[in-house]
Amino acid sequence: MFKVLVTRRIPDAGLKLLTGECEVEMNPYNRVFTHREISNRIKDKDGLVCLLTDRIDQEIIENGKNLKVISNYAVGYDNIDIESANRRGIPVTNTPDVLTDATADLTWALILSIARRIVESDSFIRANKFKGWDPLLLLGSEVYGKVLGIIGAGKIGTAVAKRSRGFSMKLLYTDPNRNEIMEKEFGARNVNLKELLKESDFVTTHTPLLDETYYIIGRDELRVMKKDSYLINTSRGNVIDEKELVKALKEKRIRGAALDVFENEPEIEPELLKLKNVILLPHIGSATVEARSRMSVVAAKNLLTGLKGEIPQHTVNLRVGD
Ligand code: GLV
Ligand code: GLV
Repeated sequence: MFKVLVTRRIPDAGLKLLTGECEVEMNPYNRVFTHREISNRIKDKDGLVCLLTDRIDQEIIENGKNLKVISNYAVGYDNIDIESANRRGIPVTNTPDVLTDATADLTWALILSIARRIVESDSFIRANKFKGWDPLLLLGSEVYGKVLGIIGAGKIGTAVAKRSRGFSMKLLYTDPNRNEIMEKEFGARNVNLKELLKESDFVTTHTPLLDETYYIIGRDELRVMKKDSYLINTSRGNVIDEKELVKALKEKRIRGAALDVFENEPEIEPELLKLKNVILLPHIGSATVEARSRMSVVAAKNLLTGLKGEIPQHTVNLRVGD
């Protein structure tokens, strides 16, 4: 039987597939494994199911002498040293598609919540401050008919665009590739980043974290955004320069930000915590019972295929025939 390391408990649907066919060692703790814990445990394993919170670097990949496949339980895989995996010819897989709608839904929850000050309003009631209807109480911004700028027109970006049709929004997107569905079905216009930032009322990021997207929103980009615009991030923390974002929010150069992801998770930039015009969520983009369960099945299937020496469907590094 193949030996498999699962770095944290995942939903039963996928786990069952693994335990049915492999000898599974699963993280027994309700916390992430340390780097050393993974590095030691990988030595005799044939397969690895890991999380976006695990840094799978050269040391771990080289320690895994028998390693045949690395199955990341996430769509993003910036936590894995792809070059080291390539050198060993190890397929690295992810879990796309099954979390697209959950993440797009959450993005929309954030767009509406930041615009209409939902979290602030809830806190207001709980702080016993509601003294009755007031013409000037907690005024927010309209969403209907506004301009939505989507950075990264992949599957999640496209799903976010689809939902915007009900709000009659004008859609802009920026992406190295043209997206015909965005343009033909949703009427989106392909523009450069600067134009998108200049015109959008809501800017939302849906790129993977790559060298090219690291700090894609930094000091200069924040200066181009409209004064009454909002920034939403459900992708990866490092696509935004957090310190510069704090400055922009403090100086009211943009109206608000809604963030599901952060630069140094689980640490939160202390200045962000002090700001009222932000919503902060603990990286829950794919956190629905349905999506997480489907992710576990996809991750398990990817792993089992890789163990057989085949290239799994959701391989992000090697192509079939490599
Ligand atoms: C979540 O952030 C994921 O990449 O799946
Ligand atoms: C608001 O509650 C209204 O009736 O206008």
